[in-house]
Amino acid sequence: MGVNVIKYDVVIAGSGIAGASVAYFLSRKGFKVLFTDVKPFERAGDKPCGDAMGKHHFDELGIEYPKGEELEGLVKAIDIYSPSEEIRYRVTGEGFEVNRVEFTKRFIRLAQNKGAEYLPEVQVRKLLFKNGRVIGASLWSRSRGEWEVEADLVIDATGMSRALLRQLPKDWPIRDDLRPQDMNIAYREIRKLKEPVEEPEILRIYVSQEKAPGGYWWFFPYSFKDGVVNVGLGVQGGMGHPFPKDLLYTKVLNSPIFEGSEIIEAGGAAVPTRRPINTLVWEGIAAVGDAAYTVNPIHGGGKGSAMLSSWCMAEAVEEAANSGGLTTEALWGANKCFIDRYGAKQAALDIFRVFLQRLSDKDLDDGMRRKLIKEEDLNTVSLHGDLELSTVEKAMRLLSGLRRPTLLFKLKTVADYMGKIKEHYRKFPEDPSGLNSWLTDLQRIYDDFLKKL
Ligand code: FDA
Repeated sequence: MGVNVIKYDVVIAGSGIAGASVAYFLSRKGFKVLFTDVKPFERAGDKPCGDAMGKHHFDELGIEYPKGEELEGLVKAIDIYSPSEEIRYRVTGEGFEVNRVEFTKRFIRLAQNKGAEYLPEVQVRKLLFKNGRVIGASLWSRSRGEWEVEADLVIDATGMSRALLRQLPKDWPIRDDLRPQDMNIAYREIRKLKEPVEEPEILRIYVSQEKAPGGYWWFFPYSFKDGVVNVGLGVQGGMGHPFPKDLLYTKVLNSPIFEGSEIIEAGGAAVPTRRPINTLVWEGIAAVGDAAYTVNPIHGGGKGSAMLSSWCMAEAVEEAANSGGLTTEALWGANKCFIDRYGAKQAALDIFRVFLQRLSDKDLDDGMRRKLIKEEDLNTVSLHGDLELSTVEKAMRLLSGLRRPTLLFKLKTVADYMGKIKEHYRKFPEDPSGLNSWLTDLQRIYDDFLKKL
């Protein structure tokens, strides 16, 4: 490396919500940070999205609620419809429809105000290695060409592209490639309808294997913008399902309420829907956000948990710096922080996701009609990743659901394995040396579960 190479504490590739927030969390602690994005500032965080965020994410991280240009609507509840649309569960909980670009810009500006260096329209290209560790990266821009920077830690926040992680040796546990079946491919449009939406503060999710195999379609109004809705559809990847755009057009947008509506924006993208990455840190490199699979496997919301992974990363970097350096061992707390606050629950939800994706529309309708899973259960599942069916309730539901006993038994298996996975995450190794055997045991739990299902 040349004498003019600039050295940073942390270099971050990608300035979506994960990259921008980790840049802010680190720079406010006084670290020397560089963060870049291939996109210009005007398009920061502009990945196709449903734009919904629960209020609790902001409370947990002590972050100001979105307001002004960042806020496009308020959310009071989510209605979940069964495949026949005859049964509806209402899950209450406050949240926001955000303007994803303005929201991301907030963190970019905050990081810059704390001294972080932000380079839009700059691509992070090649990782630089020395003695089995990542020690920097090469950057490229149209105006400047290619140059190198050094860092104690390089963070991949490039979302699903995982531009840096993909360059790592296959046997580094942080590499952890994504299986196509563990992602959802989604397409969404923002449309202005002819008529205002009734109850615009209620988001709607429609579960249907026929319309959205292995996923769902959604209708999210922006309550501050009369008649403007985010309507989209996601399908499970790797299964040979039709394109989500085709399904949205043939199964959803032909409904009368979209007649004469105007397209404001359109676009598709993929989202990971699995348990978290094996480890957030390894030998000079780290991952946050979609690159680290921090998304909720059931509903695909990932902005809040991306920020949480960023927060955990910044806490770990501070702790490691205070204890002598950013080694894998010293940064290990990032894993513990994320798993305790979200990752263990996320892994339990991954089990639930695998189960849901195998249900037929008839099972889904019957299950919801008979309340095999009740609204309260759904709340507990989504808040804590527990599917706890109390003994009395179990018996009652067994009686009422006798016509579908297999489904109930499967549900019991699912609840058991959700508990087992959470328990296993509670035993996440204290240091990197225990990771391999922990991962082997984790795989065994998944394999057993799939056999029993
Ligand atoms: P993100 O992909 O946003 O950012 C990565 C950035 O890295 C990009 O800006 C990209 O330009 C940049 N980049 C890539 N390679 C680079 C390189 N080599 N060098 C420099 N920069 C590079 N979530 C939610 O909370 N609520 C919701 O309603 C929805 N709905 C939804 C709908 C659909 C259709 C999808 C596809 C996804 C959602 N999500 C969601 C998920 C949510 O959009 C997602 O979890 C976050 O945007 C992830 O943010 P990241 O910053 O991790 O990645």
